[in-house]
Amino acid sequence: MIACGPASTPARSPDSDPAAEAAPAVPDPRPVPPAADEPPPVLDASAADEAAARAIVEAKCARCHGADRVWNETADAAEWNAILDRMAGLGATLEPQERETLLRYLLSR
Ligand code: HEC
Repeated sequence: MIACGPASTPARSPDSDPAAEAAPAVPDPRPVPPAADEPPPVLDASAADEAAARAIVEAKCARCHGADRVWNETADAAEWNAILDRMAGLGATLEPQERETLLRYLLSR
């Protein structure tokens, strides 16, 4: 006869219980701190661009046609460059800096 010992059941490790791993869902009561390392917003950058662009158009473009001719035009960068080249050919005198300021504003509208 073969004597059968008591059935040996391996001890269950508590680590194998997935429920024991889950962290309890406790809402964090702390307020969200302000992002301290973000640069301060430059509040008047676009306003300055717009004022500069309007001054350039009044001074350099509106003597031949209304400034509305400029503001009513919708064009992409390539088209504006072509228009400004054509205007220069007609007699418009834009400094490179003015052209850049005007283009930047026109394309940002
Ligand atoms: C010397 C006169 C003159 C000046 C200065 C001038 N323009 Fe014009 N512009 C014209 C004439 C003429 C037309 C119409 C003929 C044409 O479109 O080529 C025109 C047309 C335009 C149009 C319409 C173009 C289209 O394709 O419908 C735009 C936009 C424009 N001008 C923008 C400008 C801007 C921006 C400036 C200033 C940087 C400027 N113009 C300065 C004479 C001028």
